[in-house]
Amino acid sequence: MSSSEAPQPLWSRPRGALKGTLTVPGDKSISHRALMFGALALGETTVEGLLEGEDVLRTAQAMRQLGATVERLGEGSWRLQGRGVGGLCEPDDVLDMGNSGTGARLLMGLLATHPFTSVLTGDASLRKRPMARVTVPLSHFGATFTGRSGGRLPLAVTGTATPVPQTYELPVASAQVKSAVLLAGLNTPGVTTVIEPEATRDHSELMLRAFGADLTVSVRDDGARVITLVGQPELTGRAVKVPGDPSSAAFPVVAALIVPGSHIVVRNVGMNPLRTGLFTTLLEMGADIKLVNEREEAGEPVADLEVRYSALKGVTVPPERAPSMIDEYPILSVAAACASGETRMLGLAELRVKESDRLAAMADGLKACGADTEVAENDTLVVRGTGQPPRGGAMIPVNLDHRIGMSYLVLGMTTAEAVGIDDASAIATSFPGFADMMIELGADIHGA
Ligand code: S3P
Repeated sequence: MSSSEAPQPLWSRPRGALKGTLTVPGDKSISHRALMFGALALGETTVEGLLEGEDVLRTAQAMRQLGATVERLGEGSWRLQGRGVGGLCEPDDVLDMGNSGTGARLLMGLLATHPFTSVLTGDASLRKRPMARVTVPLSHFGATFTGRSGGRLPLAVTGTATPVPQTYELPVASAQVKSAVLLAGLNTPGVTTVIEPEATRDHSELMLRAFGADLTVSVRDDGARVITLVGQPELTGRAVKVPGDPSSAAFPVVAALIVPGSHIVVRNVGMNPLRTGLFTTLLEMGADIKLVNEREEAGEPVADLEVRYSALKGVTVPPERAPSMIDEYPILSVAAACASGETRMLGLAELRVKESDRLAAMADGLKACGADTEVAENDTLVVRGTGQPPRGGAMIPVNLDHRIGMSYLVLGMTTAEAVGIDDASAIATSFPGFADMMIELGADIHGA
C-alpha cells in the first residue's frame, strides 16, 4: 500500500484548456458507512457506486474480519450479509485501517460496545492522528482502550458487554466523533444522545434511519443539533446507491476554473448541504458553476456541475462554514492563489490534524510556488492573489496526504513552471484514476 511502496513522483504542467465530461468516484464518507451498516444489518445489503479507494477497501476487509460477508460483484457493485446489531465477532488479526481516519474512528465506535478485544493500526499518517477525541466518549460507555499517548494507534479496544447510554456534547465539530458515539449507541440499551454545536455531515444519521434505526434530530434554541438514537434496533439490509464525492469533484471543478478556456461537466455529484461549502465559496469568488439535472438519489441530493474558466476574486470564508468544506481548503487555497485579491480562510485549526498538517502544507507549498501566503493567529490561512497564477516550479512533499497531492497537481495545470509532488500513491485512498481522468480532460501529468 501507499506507505510501503516506492514513492511515485508526478509532475503537472499546463497544456491548454480542460474540456469534457467526467464522473468522479463514489463518496468516501457514504461508502464507509454503507459497508459498516450493511455489516450490522440483518439480511442482504447491496451497494452501487461504492468508492473502491484504498481507505474504503480497508473498511471492507475489517468488516470481513469481524464476521460479515462482504463480496465484490463488479465495478462499484458490492453485496453484504450482515451480522445484526451486536453480532460482530472477535477478529483473529490486527485491523489495519491504512490511511483512513474515518474507517478507524467509526470502527472504534462499533467495537466499543462489542464484548471482545481488537487491535487497530494504520499507516504512518494515521498513527500520528489524535484518537482521544473518540476514546474519551467511548470510554464512558464502558469500553477500555490501551493506546499510545493521545490515544494514538496502534491501540487495543476491549468493548463492554454492559454498555451505559451516553449524552455527549461534541467539543470539536467532527462527523467522525459524532458517528463513533452513535455507532457505540447502536448496541447499547436505552437512548444515546449526541449534541453538536455546529452541524457536520449527516450521512450517518440519514443512513441509519434508512436502515431502520429510530433516530431523531432536533435543533436547540442556541442552534445546536440534538441527535437521539434508540439503542439495539433491528437494522434491515437494503440497497444503497452512493453518489459521486463532492470532495473529489472539487479537484476537476477548481482545475476548470483556473485553466483558461476550460469547460467541463462533472456528473453525479452529491450535493448534501452539509458538504457544499466549497461550491458556495467558489460562487462568491465569481465562479461560473451551474447545477444541472438536480435530483435526489437514495436520500441524498445529487446534481451535475457545469464549470467554465472564471476570473476569481478573493473572499473571506467564515469559520462557521468550515464543517461543510473541511476537506476542501487545500484546493480552495489553490483557487485563491489564482484569484485577484486576498482570501482569508478562518477557523482552520482542524486542518492541522488531518492526513497531514494541511495548514502548513498549503501555506508552505504555495509559497514555494511563488504565491503570497501566510498563517495568521495559528488557524487562519491568508492567500493574496494577483489575478494571475503563481510561478510554480516547486516539488511538494505530500506526506501521505491525497488531497495535498491532488491540489498541487491541479495548480501545475496553470502555472508557468511545472509543479511536482514527491509521491502520488496516496491519491488512490480517495480518487483512484485521478491523474488519468485529468489527462483525458486535457491535463499534462506525467512521472518524469
Ligand atoms: C469525515 C469527516 C471529516 C472529514 C473526513 C471524513 C466522515 O472528518 O475530514 O474526510 O466521513 O465523517 P472530521 O469529522 O474529523 O472533521
